[in-house]
Amino acid sequence: MFVFHPPVERVLLPGGSAVVTVVALVPAAGRGERLGAGRPKALVPVRGEPLLTHAVRGLLASGRVDHVVVAAPPAEVDQVADLLRPLGPAVHVVAGGGERTDSVRLALDAALTFAPAADVVLVHDAARAFTPPEVVRAVVDAVVGGAPAVVPVLPVADTVKQVDADGRVVGTPDRSALRAVQTPQGFAVDLLRRAHAAAEGAATDDAGLVERLGEPVATVPGHPWAMKVTTPFDLAVAEAVLAGEEGR
Ligand code: C5P
Repeated sequence: MFVFHPPVERVLLPGGSAVVTVVALVPAAGRGERLGAGRPKALVPVRGEPLLTHAVRGLLASGRVDHVVVAAPPAEVDQVADLLRPLGPAVHVVAGGGERTDSVRLALDAALTFAPAADVVLVHDAARAFTPPEVVRAVVDAVVGGAPAVVPVLPVADTVKQVDADGRVVGTPDRSALRAVQTPQGFAVDLLRRAHAAAEGAATDDAGLVERLGEPVATVPGHPWAMKVTTPFDLAVAEAVLAGEEGR
């Protein structure tokens, strides 16, 4: 079994300065068709700035992230690089791939050229643009603390049904044992590399690939603001939440 033991001298120092090297990958190459905005979802503005800008700024605001690698729609790489340049030299932009898994793999390959000694890798959906920095810190700290794979989760409020291909209910899982999974998901770098090298087919999240290896995945508390902006309704919720924050 893979065990991640950070060497004693590679620990987070008080005040948030990191001796551990942390890279964050942001898959942002989706078309975002469910949002119906006529442009890649990551570039849809909320309170005057694209979702992607909010997402990357939140990662950097955690004080735990050394490099951010964004996987952009291939046709939009230059536009995204221009957009993110004001956030500083720690932010890199590469072309994403056909599926989310491909975009993550391409960003990981690039990250390891920028930061070959990286210890911890986060994978964070651009669509979870308003994830509070404390969630980012909790995930990094759990990986540094020895958990090789960590996901932020929330309890599930709805009863969830499993259905067959015809939409007929075939089961009702015990809700108390279910969790909704958010990002950033955090990993020891070697584990995520192994998970992606072994991956067959696409996965909706990276922890799923780690689970296929039979490796344990730990959880930390997520946050309602780490919701994934997927539909026009979600966009309206995000606008309202931010407007409320600004009005405080
Ligand atoms: O489609 P979904 O909302 O699950 O996508 C999750 C994240 O993966 C989004 O931030 C999207 O931009 C990204 N993605 C990607 N490359 C793709 C498809 C999706 O980076 N080919």
